[in-house]
Formats: sequence, C-alpha cells, structure tokens
Amino acid sequence: MPEKAIKKAKPAKKAKQPAALPDYIARNRAAWTKSNARYTAGSARESWGQDVHWGPFHVPEAEVQALPDVRGLDVIELGCGTAYFGAWLKKRGARRVVGVDVTPAQLATARKLDKEFGLGLELLEANAEDVPLPDASFDLAFSEYGASLWCDPYRWIPEAARLLRPGGELLFMRNSTLQMLCSPDDGSLGEHLVRPQKGMHRFDWTDEGEPETVFHISGSEMFQLLLKTGFDVVDFRELFAPDDAVNHPYYEWVPAKWAKLWPSEEIWRARKR
Ligand SMILES: C[S@@+](CC[C@H](N)C(=O)[O-])C[C@H]1O[C@@H](n2cnc3c(N)ncnc32)[C@H](O)[C@@H]1O
Repeated sequence: MPEKAIKKAKPAKKAKQPAALPDYIARNRAAWTKSNARYTAGSARESWGQDVHWGPFHVPEAEVQALPDVRGLDVIELGCGTAYFGAWLKKRGARRVVGVDVTPAQLATARKLDKEFGLGLELLEANAEDVPLPDASFDLAFSEYGASLWCDPYRWIPEAARLLRPGGELLFMRNSTLQMLCSPDDGSLGEHLVRPQKGMHRFDWTDEGEPETVFHISGSEMFQLLLKTGFDVVDFRELFAPDDAVNHPYYEWVPAKWAKLWPSEEIWRARKR
C-alpha cells in the first residue's frame, strides 16, 4: 500500500448522518445479544490472546498467508463482534483499528477486553452498511463473518469502498457458496444441494430457533459487484478444514468431516482503484 495513503482520518464533523436501519438489523441484533450471553462473551478472551487464524477450524495465518502487511495502516473492521480479529491486527502493528458493530452486548465485551489488553481499539456502534465516518479514512477494511455475512453485499461493499483511500484494500472471509447451497434452513450442512444458486441473496432462517437474516451472493456476482464498486480482486482463497480438525463446539452446523472434503469458507482480497 502506498506510504502517502497512510494519513490521518478527516475530522469526525464531516461524517455523514446514518439513514434509517433496514428490517433485518433488529432481528440480527437480538440473535447476537443472545449469542454474546451464551458463548462469545466467554470465549473472546482466549481469542484475543491468540494470533491470526481463519475460520472455525483455526487454520493458522502462517499457512494461509492471506493478510497484507498491516504495519502502520488505518484499519476498519465491519461487524467486529468481540473484536478479536481487530485485536490481532493491532498486535501486528496496525496504527489505528476501528471496530464497527450493531450489537451493544458484543461491543461491551470488546471494550472490556480492549481495556484488559490495553490495545486502544476504537469501537463504534453502527450499521456496517452505513458507517458515520468520513470518506477515504482507512487503508484496510475487513470483515471476518461480520458484514461479510450479516450485511447486504449491495450495501456494505460500496460502503467499504467509500471508507477506503485509493489503493486501500478490502479483505473478507465468508461462507463458501457451496456451504450455502448445502445448508438447510435449520440444522446442519449436508452433502446435497438444498437450494438453487440462481437468485441467491438473502436468507431468512433460524439458528437454534432464533430468527436471523444473512446474505450470500454467488462468487461471480461478488466478483462483478467488486469490479463495479471500484475494486480489483487481487486474491481469492477457499479454505478446507485441516486433516486433524474436529467439530467446533459452537459452529457445529459445519461438520469437520464435511469441511475436509469441500471448502466451507472463502477469503476475498480486493484493492480500490
Ligand atoms: C461472527 S461476529 C464477528 C466476529 C468478529 N470477527 C470478531 O473478531 O469477534 C458477527 C458480528 O456481526 C455483527 N453484525 C450483524 N449485523 C451487523 C450490521 N448490520 N452492522 C454491524 N455489525 C453487524 C453482529 O452484531 C456480530 O457481533
């Protein structure tokens, strides 16, 4: 990334005013408030203490090598949750890390851990599709199962483009298209296609009886969206579970056996023109 691109964000007074929240935000916020109480608040401390790894099967970054050098960069995480990924990037030398999330309970856990670890993350409650921060403020925008899953790609990808400086990068992990095609509305991933790829976009389903809305568009549609939004795709990875992987205690709907045979997630990296 060019050295000249690393400069201070414009003053907050120039930030745009957020628009009304779309219908799925309240549902997803309620689901994440429950997840925070059930699981993430308890597991986050351990994650904060670790180094970068990818997905429920913890594939180490040393093996994947999907991250750019983040030293000196201004970084924004869209849908930061408990902000362990942002913490990892700050520890790797990012200059500024801003975490945006729409669920106060998740941000409360992130704030508590940030105080404990003393990393100085900036944590902001907002919809990642409509962030009240100025244009061209960041060198890297990323999402690990945050906006990349819970936000409408036709809203959050243009928003990421707006927030990035020219030459800045967008990096995100999401489910693979194959995983989505083999995921029933309720229950575990199977070995058969259960939904059409044509027209896939918004999924209104339940997780442990909890209604939630997620988004996924096909690989070719994502590629086209990135191009049209002013990005060039510079890397794309499909991740498998390692040979010795066992089922994740929380993300149990992706069986390790399945993910050893088919890629359960993918990582996209794109550069703003
Ligand atoms: C799987 S967690 C993200 C994990 C994250 N990488 C971390 O380090 O903890 C997903 C997060 O997305 C957030 N989220 C869902 N919809 C959102 C939206 N519209 N805007 C911002 N955050 C959102 C949820 O509140 C939840 O905290």
